[in-house]
Amino acid sequence: MITYEEAMAKLQQDGQEHVLAYYDELDEAGKQHLLKQIEELDFSVLALADPKVRRKTTAARGKITPLTAMELPEIEENKEHFKATGLEAIRAGKVGAVLLAGGMGTRLGSDNPKCMYDIGITHPVFIMQRLIENTLDVVREADGHMIPFFIMTSKKNDAVTREFLKEHDYFGYDPSFVYFFEQEMAPACDYNGRVYMEEKDTIATSPNGNGGWFTSMNRAGLVDTCHELGIEYLNCFAVDNVLQRIADPVFVGAMIEKKCACASKVVRKVSPDEKVGAMCLEDGKPSIIEYYDMTPELKEEKNGKGDPAYNFGVILNYLFSEKDLEKIMNEKLTVHVVEKKIPYLDPFGNHIKPESPNGYKFEQLILDMIHEMDSCLPFEVDRKREFAPIKNRTGVDSVESARELCKGCGISL
Ligand code: UTP
Repeated sequence: MITYEEAMAKLQQDGQEHVLAYYDELDEAGKQHLLKQIEELDFSVLALADPKVRRKTTAARGKITPLTAMELPEIEENKEHFKATGLEAIRAGKVGAVLLAGGMGTRLGSDNPKCMYDIGITHPVFIMQRLIENTLDVVREADGHMIPFFIMTSKKNDAVTREFLKEHDYFGYDPSFVYFFEQEMAPACDYNGRVYMEEKDTIATSPNGNGGWFTSMNRAGLVDTCHELGIEYLNCFAVDNVLQRIADPVFVGAMIEKKCACASKVVRKVSPDEKVGAMCLEDGKPSIIEYYDMTPELKEEKNGKGDPAYNFGVILNYLFSEKDLEKIMNEKLTVHVVEKKIPYLDPFGNHIKPESPNGYKFEQLILDMIHEMDSCLPFEVDRKREFAPIKNRTGVDSVESARELCKGCGISL
């Protein structure tokens, strides 16, 4: 553990000495806790709160060109063949699932992790239960062959997530195939880059985004576990899409047949202005262009069929070749600066829970990993059957909209 002097020297490098302001008031446990946090955190990201620094470090976008997606008719035509290939890989133990559940779900506004949210109407239907039931569908199709199920949590929700699964008997999943790992945290700061304190002995932190998942998995020794189990493909997905298919054999088979380094489930955009990132090539490599980066020209551009050229949005369900993930593991991903509500301790010792954003969090994103890969297969899915994200309580991408979509798929709520 670092000493007080070492901690102070580290903080001085990034102008954050105020973190130790209450040090003398703390008991021994509090002192140790604070020093450990200072030792573990990377404060250099806080410089990005300054827009000038941000502009300097954000690489300009490369040349954007279309990337052809595999569309529904082509998938339908080859479905049985892809499925057979995918199931063979699953039965051979080559496919693992990775649930990204380290986020804070602030928009949903529940105190518990998002996976514990109950979307049921007449009986409980937890988000986690939906995900596990969807995975079990595939286990059954693969003659009972279990799919190793990795769950990424963060310091803020790890214990309660584990407890919840245990309490519910893992919703029928064999617990010996469930592996937890924690992602890293990043400091959170005000608009001037000054880190907030959550308690006198605790720096305000938040999970550092979903982009570090493979590095965190490696740190937890689980990449070694992948080797031991013979896993060659990892299907990585968000916690909040209650309709998504996990380790979908058709998707797995298509990527294997097309020999791509990764694949992404995509949905046809409802309009060129829909707020989803679209698959594309950037300087010839697969990439995702955010809706706010789309120029009027890109929105207008058509492909050979006369359809919009950037017509397929990502839904945070990716499949990666494990070997290719290892190749890019040490690449530095862009750090995104996100405005959020950050609870903090004010100078008078009051705990403040802000109603509106009051500062920045720093995140790396899984979508930036796609650009590091040599090839990517965008794979179309029917949004009514596979895309019911829960970000908000009401309105767009909400509990309400997801319930309607679930009902449309015959899921009892
Ligand atoms: P979101 O972008 O929806 O973020 O995450 P969030 O933090 O959960 O929700 P808001 O923005 O505060 O409302 C997309 C997926 O990535 C995971 C989330 O759990 C979700 O599955 N995620 C996000 C992580 O695993 N770690 C993170 O640091 C952030």
